[in-house]
Amino acid sequence: MRDLTGQVVAITGASAGIGEASARALVAKGAKVVLGARRIERLEQIVEHLDGSALAVEMDVRKPEDSQRLVAAAIDTFGQLDALVANAGIGAYGGIMDLSDEKLAEMMDINVAGTVWPIRAAVPHFLEKGEGDIVIVSSVAGLRGAGDEAVYAATKFAQVGLAGGLDRELRSKNIRVSTICPGGTDTEFAMGWGRTPDMEGLDAMMRPKNIADAVVTILSQPKSMRTLIWSMRSIDEQD
Ligand SMILES: NC(=O)c1ccc[n+]([C@@H]2O[C@H](COP(=O)([O-])OP(=O)(O)OC[C@H]3O[C@@H](n4cnc5c(N)ncnc54)[C@H](OP(=O)(O)O)[C@@H]3O)[C@@H](O)[C@H]2O)c1
Repeated sequence: MRDLTGQVVAITGASAGIGEASARALVAKGAKVVLGARRIERLEQIVEHLDGSALAVEMDVRKPEDSQRLVAAAIDTFGQLDALVANAGIGAYGGIMDLSDEKLAEMMDINVAGTVWPIRAAVPHFLEKGEGDIVIVSSVAGLRGAGDEAVYAATKFAQVGLAGGLDRELRSKNIRVSTICPGGTDTEFAMGWGRTPDMEGLDAMMRPKNIADAVVTILSQPKSMRTLIWSMRSIDEQD
């Protein structure tokens, strides 16, 4: 496995859940992390406990210029960028007519455009460097539809399609593009939008650390190979 010591990784959606856990897991392996999200106070609290190995950047993945700032902050502070984890995303459950136009537009913008902009900010730097890693956190919903999350699933299929195209476009340039498709994970995801903190089944879900460990494993693989799709579920999840 590759040693991640000194590697610089930018993570979107790092103020909670899978992104936060990925930051902690990467720093434990010696990496430096640049954490992006809207809630800067939460990012700063996380950074405080990561011993100078982390930087907080207030950003909204819906704005291309914010992704440019995330990448620039990594290079200005740590001198390089080795990997991007495009993780930021939101979920809201309901049938096709159940959610407002505004909520669906927000979900499509954050999950789809909000994956494209950070990648477009990072790729020129990876091309210049001659290598790089992109890890997209999609979902099991990006592999099959589900009756109460059709639009969410569409956004997650979009990420899988994006990754497939980018792998073909960029692997000859030594840029690896990997997608993780987790099943249910106990985070703040969809809270108030189909999940509640006291709902049944949360305990049986995966923990954010499980997905973070997959991020670490993907980045630690030798550069002679690439991980395309890592589909993962709790032992209790049906399919
Ligand atoms: N939890 C699950 O069951 C599950 C399963 C499969 C896939 N996923 C995927 O995993 C990813 C992470 O979700 P999670 O479970 O860790 O949920 P979470 O705990 O709710 O965390 C979501 C993160 O995304 C950030 N975010 C949301 N909108 C953003 C925006 N416009 N700009 C920047 N950051 C934004 C949030 O930060 P701010 O609010 O501070 O901006 C937060 O840090 C998502 O892409 C989700 O679709 C989750």
